Amino acid sequence: MPVLAKLLGGASKASSLQQLAGLGQRAALAATQQAGFASQSYPVIDHQYDAIVVGAGGAGLRAAVGLSELGFNTACITKLFPTRSHTVAAQGGINAALGNMTEDDWRWHAYDTIKGSDWLGDQDAIHYMCREAPKAVIELENYGLPFSRTEDGKIYQRAFGGQSLDFGKGGQAYRCACAADRTGHAMLHTLYGQAMKHDIQFYVEYFALDLIMDSDGVCRGVMALCMEDGTLHRFQAHQTVLATGGYGRAYFSATSAHTCTGDGNAMAARAGIPLQDLEFVQFHPTGIYGAGCLITEGSRGEGGILRNSEGERFMERYAPTAKDLASRDVVSRSMTMEIREGRGCGPEKDHIYLHLNHLPPELLAERLPGISETAAIFAGVDVTKEPIPVLPTVHYNMGGVPTNYMGEVLAPTPDNPDKVVPGLFAAGEAACASVHGANRLGANSLLDIVVFGRACANRIGQIMKPNTPHKPLPATAGEGAVARLDKLRNAKGNLRTAEIRRNMQKVMQNNAAVFRTQESLEEGCKLIDETMASFQDVKTTDRGLVWNTDLIETLELENLLINAAVTMHSAEKRKESRGAHAREDFTQRDDANWMKHTLGFLPSTNDKVNISYRPVHMKPLSEEMPFIPPKPRVY
Ligand code: FUM
Repeated sequence: MPVLAKLLGGASKASSLQQLAGLGQRAALAATQQAGFASQSYPVIDHQYDAIVVGAGGAGLRAAVGLSELGFNTACITKLFPTRSHTVAAQGGINAALGNMTEDDWRWHAYDTIKGSDWLGDQDAIHYMCREAPKAVIELENYGLPFSRTEDGKIYQRAFGGQSLDFGKGGQAYRCACAADRTGHAMLHTLYGQAMKHDIQFYVEYFALDLIMDSDGVCRGVMALCMEDGTLHRFQAHQTVLATGGYGRAYFSATSAHTCTGDGNAMAARAGIPLQDLEFVQFHPTGIYGAGCLITEGSRGEGGILRNSEGERFMERYAPTAKDLASRDVVSRSMTMEIREGRGCGPEKDHIYLHLNHLPPELLAERLPGISETAAIFAGVDVTKEPIPVLPTVHYNMGGVPTNYMGEVLAPTPDNPDKVVPGLFAAGEAACASVHGANRLGANSLLDIVVFGRACANRIGQIMKPNTPHKPLPATAGEGAVARLDKLRNAKGNLRTAEIRRNMQKVMQNNAAVFRTQESLEEGCKLIDETMASFQDVKTTDRGLVWNTDLIETLELENLLINAAVTMHSAEKRKESRGAHAREDFTQRDDANWMKHTLGFLPSTNDKVNISYRPVHMKPLSEEMPFIPPKPRVY
């Protein structure tokens, strides 16, 4: 059967998901020919696009919409149906200096973001993100995002952690635009609706395996596995955008979905690109004790209070001005200290109480309906009457694939720390732009994804024209990815995927926690290296290719291990405390020696992590924003 007919037959026969995602609406598939890696008996279906986006969360969808608007023949490859992407779980909102509640200025937002980043954020990228924020939110409003409203019909904005007015001198800012406590859900569905208006070709439930890099170091596309029917696909593109999210599932307890396995990061690492600043892992102060589900910071923004077993509002001691709305790293550390000092709640004194029961029930119903339900289901708590048991829980990866503020991926060299990888972009949690530096402020993540998703599309619009002809790929392009898949599919070792994954998660949870020491990190490096080595002994049992979840979980584990090992080694090397990286043996920030980005190289689970560094961009984009000089970070 000709390949095109085969593809169309497959799509119409089996894939109602792809129909929904728009495949059925566009007959003209870009698939052109079939190659084959005969030695491995894997036929490969070829496709050509101007641009491909890997991932269909907020960053991926925004990039795909922008590319399509600019006339690029665009594909979006996603391992999940788009509206199941982890963006859906974001609750609290999106920061932008709209000035709907008080006077505001994007420069004040930028100041807070730089301070929140503990001066590891790149000031040019922060300048760009905060300046673009109001436009991005109005664009979402115009797309139809159902924001909560003030009495006079403006977008409602709530208080959020680390947000101030007037360069820290004007008190709490109300800058976080929200759709109750389901902002990510509203945003993802809105962006998906926009994507449906455009001629974007979706490949849904396709697992991206590896980047295709040529001998000149140019990215030429990606290899992917269609999970539904087991076919292999080689996507050739002039530009590839990684928007694959974070790797929270390297840890045992995380607010992240089980699908957050750092696939794009690992693909970049295997292509020889370093991962930047992975030691900075955000613990959200309020994950539900035991279950790990997120209880939004918006609950404290609406007046919620953290108390210890003595009923004390302890944040007053740690952050006298911002109190419960101090930056997340500060609140998570304070909670951990309370527990360590014996003031934790519950029979085992091992958690903290978040009180919302003093707030009016109507306010809880209007502004916090989602977490009220989550608390009832996962903690058995009626928030109008009882406190929620909470614990700092892994939530976000500040590090990722290094990019500049236009989304172009960087492969720094000693001579050129800003060297661009031609053909490769990244946005969202997979990327490190770096706007979050050592600690992200709440509600800057939904902002990051839309601003930098759009930035990628805009930059691609500047550097190439739609329908640029393709050069042929080498016949063996993508062969390494297929060989890796084949090896894992037929792995006959002794250790089950789940066993190795559990070992990795325990090591990360125990040894790269809220507080770290040389001892815990050295032990962590040894243990994570051993866990990574044990992957050579992995055992898979399903030898098929159709919906082989055994294989997919094993591929995901390999990706997680790369992220985990770089995280641990980067943390061990950094002998200072900065943002989310809190060392008990090096308690101070050390700008003289450590105001620099970590670059961790790990091309495979057979290799050892190599670390180098690149400078932080301290200069804003232009004089419209003042340089924010480093100073002690107090709240
Ligand atoms: O607490 C929250 O709603 C989370 C927001 C965020 O991580 O940006």
